[in-house]
Amino acid sequence: MKKILNIISLLSISLLIIGNVQAQQWTIDDELKDAKIKVAYDEINIDAGKAIYDVSCKFCHKDIVAAPTNDRELPTAPNLGSQEFNKNNTDGEIFCKISYGNGVGMPGYEASISEEDRWKVVAYLRSYCESYEPPTTDDNAPVVMEKFEGKITKITATFDKEKNTISTKIEGVDSVGNKVIPNNVKMKISVKRYFGDMTICDGDKTDDNGVVSVSLDGIIADTSGYIIINAAPIDGSISIEESIKLNDGWQWVNPLDQRALWGDNAHTPLWLLISYLSVTFGVLGVIGWAAFQLFRIWMLRER
Ligand code: HEC
Repeated sequence: MKKILNIISLLSISLLIIGNVQAQQWTIDDELKDAKIKVAYDEINIDAGKAIYDVSCKFCHKDIVAAPTNDRELPTAPNLGSQEFNKNNTDGEIFCKISYGNGVGMPGYEASISEEDRWKVVAYLRSYCESYEPPTTDDNAPVVMEKFEGKITKITATFDKEKNTISTKIEGVDSVGNKVIPNNVKMKISVKRYFGDMTICDGDKTDDNGVVSVSLDGIIADTSGYIIINAAPIDGSISIEESIKLNDGWQWVNPLDQRALWGDNAHTPLWLLISYLSVTFGVLGVIGWAAFQLFRIWMLRER
């Protein structure tokens, strides 16, 4: 009987210890337990949070995907787009987990990321939560984002030569199948290059016409004047590849026609034109003469 009691107490003590260790993994501040995010839940903060995530967290947590449950196993850090995780944690709890880590796999960021920025990361993580309700009574009135819930069916790309911009337009249907113009959809546009793609738009949102426009300034076309554009909403549900004629491509330009030489041809002082031409032809002449002499020597040797 004593032995059994001993075993039971040993078991319960070890259970207690295990329970404690797990409970101690995450430190949650009492006053933050039920806290809502302390920055406005708007595009600017969400985008800022994304930038921080990409630098500090993506390495372990990988790309976030909205999924019902965490779809990864330790030691791969959990997918923070898990709806389960989003539901089971308050904003304050997520904030504390980021701040203090758990001492095992997850580092703490209290020292390296400012408090405000940590809240922005929380805002970014929440943008993947399907049922998130941002705080409504806040000093900085939060902007509630409209989320496009339907299906994107078509993308078109047009090039505006005058403004040197490329505009992509998406069309879609809502959950019932009615035609709609999807706004607030993040787009990704890139230009194909021999060594990987060059992103020219990463997450800009479509306007009320379903359009995102990006400037092509500084983008160089191939020798025939074309670039190949790849455009897709960020969820990758649909994409297009389109080749666009930016210009007439590479053409022979007579340097004598170029104004760069001396202002412009019409105003070139005659003496300058004459000395330029005589120096040019003089040099060519000397080279020609030298070549001719070499040729003669060669002929002599042949004989
Ligand atoms: C060195 C890899 C690593 C980095 C970097 C990292 N994490 Fe983690 N994180 C983990 C691991 C591993 C876990 C799971 C810990 C566990 O459950 O034992 C985790 C867990 C979490 C959790 C808790 C998830 C849950 O289910 O409760 C949150 C929130 C989190 N990380 C956010 C972040 C954020 C935000 C950043 C960037 C500021 C970040 N992590 C950077 C490895 C990392």
